[in-house]
Amino acid sequence: MSDAFYHKPVMSDEVTQYLITKNDGYYIDCTFGGGGHSLYFLEQFDNIKIIAFDQDIDSYNRFLSNDNIIKFKDRIIFCKSNFRHVLNQLKEKNIEKVNGLFADLGVSSKQLDDMARGFSFNSNDPLDMRMDQNQTLSAYDIINSYNQEELERIFFQYGEESFSRQIAKKIIESRIKGKIKTCRQLSDIVCSVKWKKDKINPSTKIFQALRIYVNDELGSLQEMLSSLPQVLSLNARAVILTYHSLEDRIVKQSFKNFQSYGLKIINKKVIIANETEIENNPRSRSAKMRVLENCNV
Ligand SMILES: C[S@@+](CC[C@H](N)C(=O)[O-])C[C@H]1O[C@@H](n2cnc3c(N)ncnc32)[C@H](O)[C@@H]1O
Repeated sequence: MSDAFYHKPVMSDEVTQYLITKNDGYYIDCTFGGGGHSLYFLEQFDNIKIIAFDQDIDSYNRFLSNDNIIKFKDRIIFCKSNFRHVLNQLKEKNIEKVNGLFADLGVSSKQLDDMARGFSFNSNDPLDMRMDQNQTLSAYDIINSYNQEELERIFFQYGEESFSRQIAKKIIESRIKGKIKTCRQLSDIVCSVKWKKDKINPSTKIFQALRIYVNDELGSLQEMLSSLPQVLSLNARAVILTYHSLEDRIVKQSFKNFQSYGLKIINKKVIIANETEIENNPRSRSAKMRVLENCNV
């Protein structure tokens, strides 16, 4: 599997410049994915070690099977776990603090492009959207068993979809005819309520909402952020890349709250990708980077 196929890492230079303040000790990569960012750090700083998190078994298998990554195996500790458990995982490994923590939120290109994972509106495979394949709740369960009010709330809260009520109603009506099994079936229902105005697929917000809900993405993020003061050593930084406003709002607010505990916001304005990167990697267009430093003695 080529590196380009798995995931093209976003803003690698900027992330490295802000994250790596010491060429030794442990750094946490909360979202290992295809390992693009971790490899970038390991190649440039030969005394650092990475504690890599990913809840997707595909990412762990990639870690084991990719020659470029496995050559660094003595410098990577892989935790196949949700990053919300970062504090417990460190305790288990007898590691007290780290010299930096990085998160590149959301799903990887690999997860989106793999039709069988059920993230994409073009997929004829079952609605799924679980990043952690061991989790029981999937998008299928939600679409086929939640009531209209619950569906409407999810679509509105996590997708900011203005047609939430009409779409939820249409889903309930469609369920009378039979189960809504595939991503394409759901997308067709959405498109029967909402017409295409511009280049953006009308199902985008509904699929985003479902994905966030299925994976409790905002809850995991909040839990991970709340452990930062305990995880970061003196002058260590947290660098977080977000891709939509709901995530960014949570990071911005948490960083603000941490200021009263002696942590410092390094960039008052969010850092974004440069034009060349945006041209070469469309995913970087919506990326926003925020950086926090632990100044507590
Ligand atoms: C945007 S991709 C990261 C790509 C990576 N930086 C690279 O260069 O290949 C996000 C990854 O984080 C994982 N992930 C997302 N939320 C997670 C969570 N709460 N806990 C653990 N892993 C998570 C996903 O499974 C996915 O593989």
